[in-house]
Amino acid sequence: MENFIFHVPTEVLFGHDLEETFAARVAALGKRALIVIGGGSVKRLGIYDAIVDALHAHGVDTVECAGISPNPRIDEAKRGIALVHKENIEVIVPIGGGSVLDCAKLIAAGAKTDADPWDLVLGKAPIKDALPLATVITVAATGSEMDPHSVISNPETKQKLGWSSPLALPRVSYLNPAYTYTVNAWHTAAGTADIMSHTMESYFSVEDDAYLQDSISEAILRTCIKYGPVAFKDPTNEEARANLLWANSWAINGLIGTGKAQAWSVHAMEHELSAYYDITHGVGLAILTPHWLRHFLNDKTVSRIARFAKVIFSIEKKTEYEQAEAGIAALSEFFRSLDIPMTLKEVDIDETHLAEMAKNSVARSGGVIHGFQPMTAEDVEAIYRAAL
Ligand code: NZQ
Ligand code: ZN
Repeated sequence: MENFIFHVPTEVLFGHDLEETFAARVAALGKRALIVIGGGSVKRLGIYDAIVDALHAHGVDTVECAGISPNPRIDEAKRGIALVHKENIEVIVPIGGGSVLDCAKLIAAGAKTDADPWDLVLGKAPIKDALPLATVITVAATGSEMDPHSVISNPETKQKLGWSSPLALPRVSYLNPAYTYTVNAWHTAAGTADIMSHTMESYFSVEDDAYLQDSISEAILRTCIKYGPVAFKDPTNEEARANLLWANSWAINGLIGTGKAQAWSVHAMEHELSAYYDITHGVGLAILTPHWLRHFLNDKTVSRIARFAKVIFSIEKKTEYEQAEAGIAALSEFFRSLDIPMTLKEVDIDETHLAEMAKNSVARSGGVIHGFQPMTAEDVEAIYRAAL
């Protein structure tokens, strides 16, 4: 196992009726809070009032920053940063899905520097400080409530890029499964695929000595396979929503990637699709993952994919190759069973930008992503083409 440092200082409040506890934590971080929300669903659902009323009762004044888009944009973060300065904000409180949390992270860091926030995303300007973040997550998907990552789009340059900083780790996060009951079937399916993809990005590696981390990954994948379809059909099923929500945090908070080389391949490919076509992140991942596995099925990778087939889908075949192929097919079937479109054409993506997107997806890694297998622009284009 490789050396690692694991430090996740986020306090998690998990369960029902913890709004008061959350508000008390926020009050200890600051008395003026910027409430960051998306298109308004959390208001319609009463989640906003439950949190904001509790904050007011704890002496926290609130200012609202609404309208963060799915696939949040740089100009939305800039708008939030301006509000922080104008309103003397001390703590950032996003209430929503990963998009809202990711935007709030850039607001928190961007408010503490004179640098252009896009330069923080590009890594051109250092992140030396950030306002404290206290998050309320309402979609089980990204794990943003317990990770140091944020993904921001710049429609002008057609870029969607991730950035990370320990300073972007929330101080406290409230996870209430009931807040996710209203997530529609599309985002429930996409969220399940996203959790699985975060897990698979670490799990599929040729190193074989992180038994504990890989076994935890398998438990997370089995949780998604068991409960994704339940939440999809029965949205208010508490057991399913609670298990998916907790799986969502552990898939990406760093634990399962400890001790392993981490180079996320499918996310790099998918972020190009959402940058160019603004598609739902989890849907893009579900479309690409089976083709990525098939593209890299070879003597070095076959054992791991065959193990995946056996442990996750209880598939056993005569040869490792047959077993691996059947596992990949079962993964596609699973996504399809959640009504996820499984081709690029179904999400209105054609050949037009494939070569350009393929080149961009590996550019940040110097032309090769050293993940499960080394992946070049040619590999990415072949995977995109197979997914058409
Ligand atoms: O905009 P509102 O009205 O809030 O509606 C949202 C949005 O339309 C709705 N929604 C949120 N909570 C709801 C709800 N609908 C009903 N009931 C609720 N309780 O759901 C829609 C999708 O929300 P969004 O936040 O976009 O979804 P998700 O959580 O999947 O976040 C996706 C974004 O996160 C990035 C993705 O690339 C994408 O931009 N990622 C962030 C990561 C991270 N921070 O670590 C890692 C991921 O790999 C990912 O890249
Ligand atoms: Zn993701």
